[in-house]
Amino acid sequence: MFKEISDEKKELKRLLSSLSLEEKIGQTVQLTSNFFSEDLHAVKTGPAAEIHLSEEFQISQVGSVLNVTDPSEVKKIQERHLAKSRHKIPLLFMADIVYGNKIIFPIPLAQSGSYDFNLIKLAGKELAKESYNAGIHVTFSPMLDIVRDPRWGRVMESPGEDVYTVEQYARSIVQGIQGDKDSDMFSDSHIASCIKHFAAYGAPDSGKDYNTVDMSELRFRREYLPGYIAALEANARLVMTAFNTLEGIPCTGNEWLNKEILREELEFDGVLITDHSAIEEMIAHGYAVDKRDAAFKAAKASIDIDMMTSSYANNLKDLINKGQLSEELLDESVMRILELKNDLGLFENPFRGLDLESTGKYLDESTKNVAKELASKSCVLLKNDKHTLPLNKSQKIALVGPFGDSKLTLGFWAFTGDKDQVITLKEGVLQHISADMLHIHSGTAMFSEFNFPDEFSDPAFRELFLGKDVNNYQKDSHEAIKMAHGADVIVFAFGENFLETGEGASKTSLMLPKDQICLLKELRKLKKPIIGVLYTGRPVILTEIEENFDALLLAWYPGTMGGQAIADLLYGEKVPSGKLSMTFPRNEGQIPIHYSQLNTGRPLNADNCNGRFISRYIDSPSSPLYPFGHGLSYCDFVYKNGYISSMQLSPDKEIVLSIDIQNNSDFDGDEVVQLYIRDLAADIVRPKKELVSTERVSLRANECKTVTFVVNSELISYIDKKGNTQLEPGLIELYIGRSSEDIRSQFTIDYVSS
Ligand code: NOJ
Repeated sequence: MFKEISDEKKELKRLLSSLSLEEKIGQTVQLTSNFFSEDLHAVKTGPAAEIHLSEEFQISQVGSVLNVTDPSEVKKIQERHLAKSRHKIPLLFMADIVYGNKIIFPIPLAQSGSYDFNLIKLAGKELAKESYNAGIHVTFSPMLDIVRDPRWGRVMESPGEDVYTVEQYARSIVQGIQGDKDSDMFSDSHIASCIKHFAAYGAPDSGKDYNTVDMSELRFRREYLPGYIAALEANARLVMTAFNTLEGIPCTGNEWLNKEILREELEFDGVLITDHSAIEEMIAHGYAVDKRDAAFKAAKASIDIDMMTSSYANNLKDLINKGQLSEELLDESVMRILELKNDLGLFENPFRGLDLESTGKYLDESTKNVAKELASKSCVLLKNDKHTLPLNKSQKIALVGPFGDSKLTLGFWAFTGDKDQVITLKEGVLQHISADMLHIHSGTAMFSEFNFPDEFSDPAFRELFLGKDVNNYQKDSHEAIKMAHGADVIVFAFGENFLETGEGASKTSLMLPKDQICLLKELRKLKKPIIGVLYTGRPVILTEIEENFDALLLAWYPGTMGGQAIADLLYGEKVPSGKLSMTFPRNEGQIPIHYSQLNTGRPLNADNCNGRFISRYIDSPSSPLYPFGHGLSYCDFVYKNGYISSMQLSPDKEIVLSIDIQNNSDFDGDEVVQLYIRDLAADIVRPKKELVSTERVSLRANECKTVTFVVNSELISYIDKKGNTQLEPGLIELYIGRSSEDIRSQFTIDYVSS
């Protein structure tokens, strides 16, 4: 690293001024590994031709590389690059290490429901460590899009539907990846975090990926922006633009969004990179006439790096030479990129962290332990009739369903994950009982049929989409049923194939495959207890099948250590404590659905439920199947002695709220105590409930602990449509509960402004 801060800046400026226009443009271009082959002819006729990169553009001037995650390839590309680069400016390696590199953690939608933000931070640190050892400098994580529509395949990458939860998650994971704000930024094995997708990508019309987003500025500022603000406060060094339009303007060319909000209002001076091809996609959006125009609009919107198109590479020079864009604008972008390289220490050591033996390092027990603990704390016990769970070791188990012995439990954005390291549910169960107590038969494939529309006519494409191994199971349901006859209890491991989730996997039906449902119904006829273990990347529709389960454990995609974590929960070695970070609807017609909606003038209640002109559905209950925040335990938690220090809150006098949580059981377990508020009358209407604080508390068997929340004026304030914080005198309701619907204690306070 260059010496002192001011000296560093001077040196970087000197470096910048010594670069030619072409070299500066090169820094703003990001390409994939196939552009860095030694065979220049192959590059020219292959990837370069594909993206129409001009002959004049020198790959040796490129600034960063996309998704190279193999350490030896990183080394090779960097070495070759440095040998050719006139100024020896190292390449930045950026990759999608979204929730784990080799050891995969639970998907973010699951992680956030643990409400253990220290543990989430640790997971970020472990993820960074594995990436650092592989020579990666930047991870495209976290994704901070608020999600309320489970038809959208990418909900799995998000921390969920709730503003508070997304904020807390954002802060913790960014600190974990990068290091704490001032003290240890990029020290040890920390890397840089690129938050995405700026902004509101999680609210596409009709849940269809990449689709239009249109919302009021009020909603944008109140609900969609706070997660990004939290991450920027934790000093996230990069931001990625979103694919969607926002109020008719693609985010990548959106000056209001990127300049006014991000750069000016939020004072972001880090690197702003596009999503893959997003500059060029502004043409298809109908916002730019050609790539030159698209490059112009992106540059004006202060985009620093063009990911994988030739828009900047082919056009910035001409735009600058013709005076349409100022060279200063380009200089600002290049300076930001050089500063990031410098802060990461790349000028000092371009091979920062790179360890060719690193493949052995991911066997690190500390990484696995964090992955296991997070998986355990993320699973959500949706239902547990008559204490069906935990199992006891004298019960003979029939493990049925396509996930019983499957390693496909990592979720969509885990391409770097090491499948061989995955512990399956069967392997986990066998850590608790001997092989003669366990019989296993999948009984059905993950799919027998899939409702592909006609445009998926090519069988090769279908296979590419659904994967080769997904049907590789014993498919004889009769055998599975026969086997289950001899069991005391059936564990049914079922759910979605991970390729049905993630980017480009929006769905109109959230029902599970028919074969799985039929098998479950056949098993039910055996009149044995059935425990469901559900693997999914989104809330699915369980309304019709839920009654077939005596107990139901939501595993999400639990990651490498999932099988062990789930088995520990099934056998009561650990007690479930995860909560839902996203509402489970009863049917697709309820979507979008989330707990923090506004009230209407005609809300449904016990007194008017037989009336007609009420805000409700006439063919479905309005309530969800499982509400936000829901999650049961084996412990019997009693909430008692709710206490409030005062009924009046003022700017200089905070209120202390407390409640005793009594664990009336023989299990040690954790409870996530949730504090919601409602402002009864405000100048701008506020939601029916807003989560404002959580406390994860550990209780030994029969122990009682007091949980305390401090309520101050900041906690009850709200954001108006200009982004200003508002506080108005009046009544506020405070609810302490186990979920957004299970409220155990309630107070009404009066906020007085002086
Ligand atoms: C597209 C995805 O939207 C984004 O999340 C990802 O980081 C980039 N591609 C890079 O692979």
